[in-house]
Amino acid sequence: MPIRLHINIDHVATVRNARGTRYPDPIEAALVCERASADGITAHLREDRRHMVDRDIERLRDTVLTTLNLEMAATDEMIGIAERIHPNVITVVPERREERTTEGGLDVVGQKEKLAKIVKRARTAGIKVSFFIAPDEAQVRASKELQVEQVELHTGEFCNASGSAQQKELERLRSAARLGHELGLEIAAGHGLNRSNVIDVAAIPEIIEFNIGHAVIADAIFMGLADAVGAMREAILRGVRHRA
Ligand code: PXP
Repeated sequence: MPIRLHINIDHVATVRNARGTRYPDPIEAALVCERASADGITAHLREDRRHMVDRDIERLRDTVLTTLNLEMAATDEMIGIAERIHPNVITVVPERREERTTEGGLDVVGQKEKLAKIVKRARTAGIKVSFFIAPDEAQVRASKELQVEQVELHTGEFCNASGSAQQKELERLRSAARLGHELGLEIAAGHGLNRSNVIDVAAIPEIIEFNIGHAVIADAIFMGLADAVGAMREAILRGVRHRA
């Protein structure tokens, strides 16, 4: 099974917005990533529009030839935008205004009714749904109950830990990936991954997609975006070679 690498290009917009210029353009970044063999482009339209703005998502829809994955909160406003712009996939994420980045997974167990409405509207629009969840059994099972096609396991805790705590987090990811796969869900992973820590995660055999942003954009400063995508792909393949 080939592994999908989706590049999150939010931070190209972060740099643009820092100076209120029209560059760097996230759409140009998407084209470079696709030419460098990314399998998809991921973008998070946040409620406060701190990086991507609505027009970026519209332009990405017109440009991206691979898969456009829109990360969004479970709100009426966002599902309305998804229905209008029609990304290939929506990844539903928790969102708090004061957070620096997406902290923690979506509480599927605690918000089944609200999330069921989002899933229903996406399904009617023909949009695939992925839930961004912590690697917890209850969240995986609740996601399956809501009949999403995919879960993306939040790798942030793993990335922030070290030593035996990190091994424990890796085991949580392994178990959640195994369970999700047994339940028939596609398994993605993302958040905080870089060329070093992605290797252990990529060794988990059930994971078929990675969504990676910050580290690729950071690498791009020194090696150029196309080479940064290629280097991340190489690191993932190093992990895949360790699969049982
Ligand atoms: N996946 C999801 C659902 C996210 O919210 C994010 C951050 O926007 C990422 C992946 C990418 O995380 P990072 O930028 O740390 O690679």
